[in-house]
Amino acid sequence: MTTTTTATTARAVGTPHTRVEGRDKVTGAARYAGEIPFAGLAHGWLVTSAVARGRITSIDTGPVLEMPGVLTVLHHGNAPRLDTEYTGLLGTPDRTSALFQHDRVPHLGWPVALVVAETSEQAREAAEALVVHYEQQPHDVDFAGAGDDEAYSVDGYMPGVAAKGDLAAELAASDTVVDAEYTTPEEHHAMMEPHAATAHWDGGRLEIVDSNQGTMWVAHELALLFSLDPAAVHVRSEHVGGGFGSKGVRAHQVAAALAATALQRPVRVVMTRRQMFSLAGYRSPTRQRIRLGADATGRLRALEHSCLSLTSTVHEFVESGAGPARVMYDADAHHTANRVVRLDVPTPTWMRAPGEAPGSFALESAFDELAERLGLDPIALRVRNEPEAGPVSGLPFASRHLIACFEEGARRFGWADRDPRPGLRREGRWLIGTGTAAASFPAGSAPSTATVTAEADGTFTVRVNAADIGTGARTALTLIAADALETTPERVRVLIGDSDLGQAWIAGGSMGTRSWAWAVTGAATELRERLALGTGIPPEGLTVRSDTTQAVGALTQKERHSFGAQFAEVAVDVGTGEVRVRRMLGIFSAGRIVNPLTARNQLVGGMIWGLSMALHEEAARDRASGGVVGADLAGYHVATHADVPLVEADWIEDVDPDDPIGIRGVGEIGIVGAAAAIANAVWHATGVRHRALPIRPDRVLRAEPPRA
Ligand code: MOS
Repeated sequence: MTTTTTATTARAVGTPHTRVEGRDKVTGAARYAGEIPFAGLAHGWLVTSAVARGRITSIDTGPVLEMPGVLTVLHHGNAPRLDTEYTGLLGTPDRTSALFQHDRVPHLGWPVALVVAETSEQAREAAEALVVHYEQQPHDVDFAGAGDDEAYSVDGYMPGVAAKGDLAAELAASDTVVDAEYTTPEEHHAMMEPHAATAHWDGGRLEIVDSNQGTMWVAHELALLFSLDPAAVHVRSEHVGGGFGSKGVRAHQVAAALAATALQRPVRVVMTRRQMFSLAGYRSPTRQRIRLGADATGRLRALEHSCLSLTSTVHEFVESGAGPARVMYDADAHHTANRVVRLDVPTPTWMRAPGEAPGSFALESAFDELAERLGLDPIALRVRNEPEAGPVSGLPFASRHLIACFEEGARRFGWADRDPRPGLRREGRWLIGTGTAAASFPAGSAPSTATVTAEADGTFTVRVNAADIGTGARTALTLIAADALETTPERVRVLIGDSDLGQAWIAGGSMGTRSWAWAVTGAATELRERLALGTGIPPEGLTVRSDTTQAVGALTQKERHSFGAQFAEVAVDVGTGEVRVRRMLGIFSAGRIVNPLTARNQLVGGMIWGLSMALHEEAARDRASGGVVGADLAGYHVATHADVPLVEADWIEDVDPDDPIGIRGVGEIGIVGAAAAIANAVWHATGVRHRALPIRPDRVLRAEPPRA
């Protein structure tokens, strides 16, 4: 008997597929930006400021220039000039990139010089020997002590303030009110691979080998900074060992490009782990006030969510913690505000689920508190408050399957058997509790281009300027192209991470795979149709290009989001205050899942980060020096294997109505709500609410003892 399998019957999308570059990664064949060999390479080492605010008065370059191998010391007095007044891809100019352009020091760890030498070791030794003199000025890095009067609202990627209804009147008329303040600490991306770039000039072109979340983004900003034609900058980024929002334009690329310009030879700059705590961006700490007022049935009359975060004196960045409330729940009076205070600190930036991660901790904790006071099940309270339309926008939801996620999650987690009373379940020294929380994240698409080539040998080459920052994007695009071409993934080669591939969205906003897949599908579908008509393949291949600008622009205005339900079970040691998470379950509605293997990996990774956020992560900023104490992965505690229990992520059947493939994106939603589910479980275990993250043992011990 013969079995024939035709390529057209196999659907790659929806089938688990290991990473197409997985073998390269585990065998070490995959090269990362800091280790790619270059002939004639010089090494730059950043020197960062030792004061938190002031001016550089002089730099003793003389002795350092005499040290072995040292080629130059770049600083504000001699570095090539940059144009720092441009408007970048993401709005206002970010003067965090204005390296060595002025003598002002805006925070501790600001780059004041780059020492370039023949070897990395020589550069480091000389950088450590460089003496910089400052006129020091008083600084203020105290977020906890920042007064509300210093705060101002600013429109970031969403309006600063949104308000409808009479908040005071609705609160007064409510049967039950929750009024609580929640805090989250400064958190760092802490990705495995440090920022690294090599820059060199080649035939009038600035060539950059980098680790980033979008080569076009970096190329575009460097072209503006160096007053170059965009085509004169070429950025490549083949493999990226984690980004999480931090890998955009940063000091390493700018410093390497400045040094390559000054020396006219290739220069590599790699950040140290310690430098990353002041140069890689981070998540601002937040202080959030929530007021919820409900009628006797649990329906919200009033919702106020005000989120205070910090920004630097260099650039305005807003951690939009009040964002989720604009999507999740409606109320007669609905007031949300994102406000910032300016301090002498490094500029914060996007970090996985910016806004949603800290905002959902506060909002979903407050919902649990409201459910407790109403004597309602937390899931029933959410069912009671499902909005008809966007609470602020008034727009219809393109799809909203939040309750379906809760129903499936509750069934699999065993929620129905839960005794809602806190502090009752004890196993030896451990108090046991369970908690839940909702998750949401915006689903967007951005214009992208792609080409697909039918090669003469029967294979296909996809070119799309995507970035795979560890997400599995390259593999997802391989599956998507295979289906659109009606071939097998083995016949498809996907080339990404190169600004010469053309315009495409960045790996950001959980929009990468969806935006790139749209373009790839367009080109692949047209190519397949042409081939079906019998169009011959010339020796150089047959190429079709697509551009989604018009299609994406034609999308109607709607509320587009993914949703999820998070569940956690914790055990709290009453003797030591230690919290152990025993299991987590997340059920998501995130559109069609392209590759279940890597999608689950993304969701579980996000949930583990939520665990880390709930229990471990906290950068302590020292008021005296202005810097982070213990700025390394020993001092900054992220969850490790021993902290992580059984974490399950799954999804409900869902096809996005507006996407040609029905997908949305799973990059960020996994972390949303995860910390709140854990905090709510800690309450259920102990009877004590923890409104400040992380839930450290000392905080558990200092809290009021359990009532049981
Ligand atoms: Mo993500 S914080 O959009 O890289």
